[in-house]
Amino acid sequence: MIGSPTERIDGPLKVSGAARYTLDRRDTAPPLSGVIVGAAIGRGCIDRIDVAAAQAAPGVALVLTHLNAPPQGRLDTSLPAQFSRARPVFGGARIDHAGQAVALVVAATLQQAQAAAALLVIDCRQEPGEFVLDEQDGYAPEHANAGFETDTAVGDFEGHFAEAQVRIERAYRTSFQAAHALEPHACQAHWQGDQLHLWSSLQSIRDTTAALAATLCIPLDAVHLDAAFVGGGFGSKLNLHAETVCAALAARMLGRPVRVSLARRQMTALVGGRPETRQRVRLAATPGGQLTGIAHEVWMQGSRGEEFVEQSASVTRALYAGAHRMTRHRVVALDRPLAEPVRAPGELPGLLAVETAMDELACELGIDPLLLRLQNDVAVDPERGVPLSGRRLADCLRTGAQLFGWSRRPPLAGTLREGRWHIGWGMASSIRIHFQSDAHALVRVTGDGGIEVLSDMTDIGTGTYTIVAQVAADTLGVPLERVAVRLARSGLPAGGGSGGSWGAANTSVAVRRACEALRDKARAAGASADGRYPPGLAAEGSIVGQADDPRYEKFSQHAYGATFAEVAVDADTFEVRVRRMLGVFAAGRILNPLTARSQLQGGMMWGIGSALYEAGHIDPRFGHMVNGDLGEYLVPTHADVPAIEVHMLDDADGAANDMGIKGVGELGACGSGAAVTNAIHHATGIRVREFPITPTRLLLAAQSHDRT
Ligand code: MOS
Repeated sequence: MIGSPTERIDGPLKVSGAARYTLDRRDTAPPLSGVIVGAAIGRGCIDRIDVAAAQAAPGVALVLTHLNAPPQGRLDTSLPAQFSRARPVFGGARIDHAGQAVALVVAATLQQAQAAAALLVIDCRQEPGEFVLDEQDGYAPEHANAGFETDTAVGDFEGHFAEAQVRIERAYRTSFQAAHALEPHACQAHWQGDQLHLWSSLQSIRDTTAALAATLCIPLDAVHLDAAFVGGGFGSKLNLHAETVCAALAARMLGRPVRVSLARRQMTALVGGRPETRQRVRLAATPGGQLTGIAHEVWMQGSRGEEFVEQSASVTRALYAGAHRMTRHRVVALDRPLAEPVRAPGELPGLLAVETAMDELACELGIDPLLLRLQNDVAVDPERGVPLSGRRLADCLRTGAQLFGWSRRPPLAGTLREGRWHIGWGMASSIRIHFQSDAHALVRVTGDGGIEVLSDMTDIGTGTYTIVAQVAADTLGVPLERVAVRLARSGLPAGGGSGGSWGAANTSVAVRRACEALRDKARAAGASADGRYPPGLAAEGSIVGQADDPRYEKFSQHAYGATFAEVAVDADTFEVRVRRMLGVFAAGRILNPLTARSQLQGGMMWGIGSALYEAGHIDPRFGHMVNGDLGEYLVPTHADVPAIEVHMLDDADGAANDMGIKGVGELGACGSGAAVTNAIHHATGIRVREFPITPTRLLLAAQSHDRT
């Protein structure tokens, strides 16, 4: 059962519309609708708000601003867990970023709330702000995301680089990316006495509960969340956001259920995204292509007041050989919303730079880029000195090369042509940190002898319901149909939530252990071993977080991959078409090749998006995102995505956990962008170091290329 390509058990619910997402829920009396009004300036303060007209408009029940907002918990940036922090709204007259929530209008219908919101008169005093990541020095954050060191150094990189036989130094830029989950952030809130019931679109019940309790100054056990179906998160639903706080506040003030959803455009103002970066990569090598030094420095967009740092240089620490090394993260505080995790935070922008630099080094040395990577593979973490668990990068590279037909690639760039198209082949490595968070699960036998598995773990579209059922059915020796899975509700055993690609491994191990305990109990009770379990029997299982697991000290844990891409570049317009893409991944034991393939394939599409399309553009005068909707924020659509081939190596990483599972969620996105950008260079001979590589950037680079 584990490892079988099982179709999603919640699939029929989803395709028939029976799966109810946040705003589809009808668990209360019909709710009032709230609309959040955002600041129209990027920095300054509110001088005056006239709410009279809005308040008098048809259907309006409440207009909430900083003038009448109830007291809330304060944001405490000293709390190490970012997702558990209080996130108060309407805290005062200050405007810290464009689109910041300045009012909530609640009315009987959404249309009435929207109409009334337009009647608010908000006078703001605008102050000059700093919105654009430029050549600022930045400051050293406390640590990079997920607790990683900000800076590391091994050997003497600077001294070595100055004298290295071969060296390259390159600067790269990556763009702001929005998470833009299909289902916008939304919440329905309802109070019963002092108990708060919320239906909300989120990734972690545990974190959102903590953040809400801290914001509303209520006990943790007064918060009852339900997120049974979530239409995507990509990191953007790990933090608590204004729609949920607003719905809870208004519902309490009005004594009625209230729902609030973000409009698509608000998802880049009230939700942070992937920060822009500027990066510098320096590589030192022997003429034969042995890396002797590697330095990766990152400057990224930050915000004032609170810190979020993508761990962009962190995987570079474990990627390739080299005795002299350094990594560095710097943050530039801007008047922009707090950046937040977006799919493969760190690895995606970091590997765009490092894996392009590797391609540049290969060109410089006249070595095949695949060979350069194989030649610099390592078995021991080159910085920490501990073994790299499940290191199968070379297997991924070799298998991918063979399946893609890499040996037929002409070594020189700009030599393949089909009519008006330049053709190019590129490749890149992927590496993704394997996290482990603590998780708990409960398994019990229902009255009719069925098996019920319970955890507050979420399924954000990734397939959690299905893999949990598979693990339980497999461990207990019962058919899949006999297993019911209940997830994502307060009161169920705490799971790690969906994030950081840790969900499948953590949840599966906890569920596995709960089922093993149930099996043992059944045996001890003298039950026959025929897959029938005594009704009422129950057992728990759990896994500890990485801080409490000695394996985490002893091994440097990652998942690996290699992506190969073929592109065609129009000789006149510089339009880029990805024609073929193939990825090979080693991510431990694969629980369900169908759902895992979807994750990896989706990740590879993020790679295409990062290489060619995705960029949030900030108006440098006012600090708002000019393309905050899906009309102008480009993502790859079906026409932009070729048939993507995904291969998963038969793998199991016993150093990660006893089931040998690692995360696949974000792995596909890690190096896939660089495979595309490197293919563009191979097609054209033109190197663009600012991503995404738009036709304009390619055209301009081609012109300067021609001039030199
Ligand atoms: Mo993921 S960006 O850690 O949800």
